[in-house]
Amino acid sequence: MLTSKDLINLEYKYGAHNYHPLPVVLEKGDGVFLWDVEGKKYYDFLSAYSAVNQGHCHPKIISSLINQSKKLTLTSRAFHNNILGQYEKFITEFFGYDKVLPMNTGVEGGETAVKLARKWGYEVKQIPKDAAKIVFVEGNFWGRTLGAISSSTDPSSTNGFGPFMPGYEVIPYNDLNSLRTALKDPNVAAFMVEPIQGEAGVVVPDENYLRKAYDLCKESNVLFIADEVQTGIGRTGKMICCEHHGFKPDILILGKALSGGVFPVSAILASDEVMLTIKPGEHGSTFGGNPVACEVAMAALNVIRDEKLAENAQNMGIIFREKIQSYIDKSKIVEKVRGMGLLNAIVIKDDENSNIAWNMCLKMAEKGLLAKPTHGNIIRFAPPLIINEDQLNICIDIITSTLKEFE
Ligand SMILES: Cc1ncc(COP(=O)(O)O)c(C=O)c1O
Repeated sequence: MLTSKDLINLEYKYGAHNYHPLPVVLEKGDGVFLWDVEGKKYYDFLSAYSAVNQGHCHPKIISSLINQSKKLTLTSRAFHNNILGQYEKFITEFFGYDKVLPMNTGVEGGETAVKLARKWGYEVKQIPKDAAKIVFVEGNFWGRTLGAISSSTDPSSTNGFGPFMPGYEVIPYNDLNSLRTALKDPNVAAFMVEPIQGEAGVVVPDENYLRKAYDLCKESNVLFIADEVQTGIGRTGKMICCEHHGFKPDILILGKALSGGVFPVSAILASDEVMLTIKPGEHGSTFGGNPVACEVAMAALNVIRDEKLAENAQNMGIIFREKIQSYIDKSKIVEKVRGMGLLNAIVIKDDENSNIAWNMCLKMAEKGLLAKPTHGNIIRFAPPLIINEDQLNICIDIITSTLKEFE
């Protein structure tokens, strides 16, 4: 049998070195738990970057995957399939939009939203040819394509990959004045933002920022695109994070947990006015809208709703932040805890380049909890939303006892 070390060596020898994973090799997942090849059991506190909100291998999601896989997996969109229309009705009613455009990965969702906003800009807002602008904020992350990294302010995403996409403007995050100024340009088609910046380190904006930003967009006839690939599907305590702020984005991008982590399924939701600007042949994807994805996505959303996982995320998140905060009150090394629902992070009082957060994650793994640093001194904590209070308390003990060892 191959050991963890053998398997890590195989990846190193034959795979591109584009990731720096924790040295743990997982072979099984069930609910909130993962097991490595040596049989050690862990609590998952990353949920594959919030893709496994429903817990690993949820039986209802897996059975929809298996059942549909035995009947029909892919037709492409050259033909209709018997599931797509039913899924489109289901998801548009679920989120309250006129139309959906199904894609696969989260970054394709972002690309689709940007294309859609440009098209709307030209056809509806009457922006002159090739002059449309999309406004982003500093610290954004929406994937690794050239379109996505062109808006990035993170040198590790951009260095060595230029030239970049024109037609983007990047303004400071959480800064309404900068947005107000940017929106003065009549060629702005859309403002695209994550309601909470996940990869930047679970950065939560001021209470009124998103709602005011939305209102400013409306005043300027600019589309508000919410990238809820990480924050959506119950993660922050509501079905989508914008619900906390009482508005519905013009374009909503979903991914990750839309399949419960089974395989890539993303969706872009919008009104008829926006969505119908794209005509046949102008956008697409071989796998987007395949019948397996449609069945899996319906199962994944039903699980969130039926098991009240957004509500659980809300309740467990409050307990998590309260208990971690009471640890921080006596801590010399942890600066703060922040987040909403079960998307949280702690910030270590340390510079970004030291590896203290990495070492903490190694120690937590030893104690049976898997979490990953982001940006050197931040550790994100995002367990599956099915975690119960007893399990959460055990995990809080693992986290605080680890932190204590570094004080
Ligand atoms: C907010 C956000 N948008 C988009 C993406 C890209 O998703 P994917 O990796 O499925 O392309 C991510 C991935 O982490 C994300 O966090």
